[in-house]
Amino acid sequence: MTGIFPESFVWGSATAAYQIEGAAQEDGRGRSIWDTFSHTPGLVLNGDTGDVAADHYHRWPEDVALISELGLGGYRFSISWPRVQPGGSGAANQAGTDFYSRLVDELLERGVAPVATLYHWDLPQELEDAGGWPVRETALRFEEYARLIVGALGDRVQTWTTLNEPWCSAYLGYASGVHAPGRTEPAAALAAVHHLNLAHGLAGRVIGELAPQAKLSVSLNLHVIRPFSDSAADLDAARRIDALANRAFLGPMMDGAYPADLVADTTAVTDWGFVRDGDESLIRVPLDVLGVNYYSTTLVRAWDGMSARSDADGHGRSASSPWVGAAGVDFPPQPGPYTAMGWNIDPAGMTELLLRLHHEYPAQPLMITENGAAFEDVVEADGAVHDDLRIDYLRRHIEAVGAAMTAGADVRGYFVWSLMDNFEWAYGYHRRFGIIRVDYPSGNRTWKDSAHWYRKLVAGNAIPVPSAEGEEGVRTPS
Ligand code: FCB
Repeated sequence: MTGIFPESFVWGSATAAYQIEGAAQEDGRGRSIWDTFSHTPGLVLNGDTGDVAADHYHRWPEDVALISELGLGGYRFSISWPRVQPGGSGAANQAGTDFYSRLVDELLERGVAPVATLYHWDLPQELEDAGGWPVRETALRFEEYARLIVGALGDRVQTWTTLNEPWCSAYLGYASGVHAPGRTEPAAALAAVHHLNLAHGLAGRVIGELAPQAKLSVSLNLHVIRPFSDSAADLDAARRIDALANRAFLGPMMDGAYPADLVADTTAVTDWGFVRDGDESLIRVPLDVLGVNYYSTTLVRAWDGMSARSDADGHGRSASSPWVGAAGVDFPPQPGPYTAMGWNIDPAGMTELLLRLHHEYPAQPLMITENGAAFEDVVEADGAVHDDLRIDYLRRHIEAVGAAMTAGADVRGYFVWSLMDNFEWAYGYHRRFGIIRVDYPSGNRTWKDSAHWYRKLVAGNAIPVPSAEGEEGVRTPS
């Protein structure tokens, strides 16, 4: 497949602050909900924490050099709110701001466009103590934090992304409780959805004001929802999950209103009284690019309330459901193959999602801000990691992006998750998504085969043709 990706197409990689930085107590950084969560026994696999992580806070020059050697045109990272504004209020912590300022300058120096996410889940603990995302004040605090950091970095950041996957922040943080802050309060989860949306709108306006040349974005983990059958009940189950997963965010962000069916479906949980007049139009701020994070698909069917349920979560991430107000829905197992996360591999879902967005919002440019896979990497005696399963995953998903573009979708870039192995939230260091391997605890970085493959792709602006020896990996995981 050649010639699909225009010259301007941005090939990049992505990371997030808490997952890579470490230095949890250095230079005035405050605590976040993930510090508290990871330090609570039993919540993260093996008791892992982000205290040291990939030590990027100290190794950032080496990491920028890696990005440069990979030939990437863009690097998506996130800014730690408690590093920049410890406690979530008051003046900026100069040392924190300086760290990101140096990072941005070094990226620019090497011709890499900085793509900065304002919020990748590390809420200052003090703001959670005051109620967290279920309270409106948190969105107002976020606006103030955005003013501090956008004021400091401004147009040097080429693309500002307000939030990463507010679905996870709201539903995994406040409904299923598998992510920080670990609460299981359905009504609070829907209030969190709204205040995250509001935070997006408020920060988006700050970015427009303080960094008018920069591009505005948000990264959503939109779900590709497949009804189990064409029965009316299964189609209705799919509609309900689509409302909670996708339209709860796309509705206000893109159309300036919550979908009526979402509100009607959840009346037993909340009256949505936290939505004030004018909020929905505030949330809708024109996006230069809509960020799409895609990993796998979601199969749903109606549940009669009596038969055994297959997967109350639909993500293999917990036993309690993040799907607030959707008691009559079940998530049957999906056909494999699967990654080490247990997520099904379905590149066609990527094409389907991009084309859905293209048809619903034809004028909206799109960008893949995350896509990638965890596998059981094996380190050979010579230090090599022949991760041909990861190469195969990436190849097929990038082909799927190409297929959507051929069919008309306006996709501007692709960011592989992740640049390097890191703290994979509740799974700690035992799930590796990097194209660069990180050895713990030394922190040494080495190139996996997927990194070499990706460099080749980026250099040629086309998917490398597999060699006769198959060194780029054609194995299919089982
Ligand atoms: C996404 C997150 C990212 C990483 C990948 C695997 O949901 O945005 O931080 O955990 O999944």
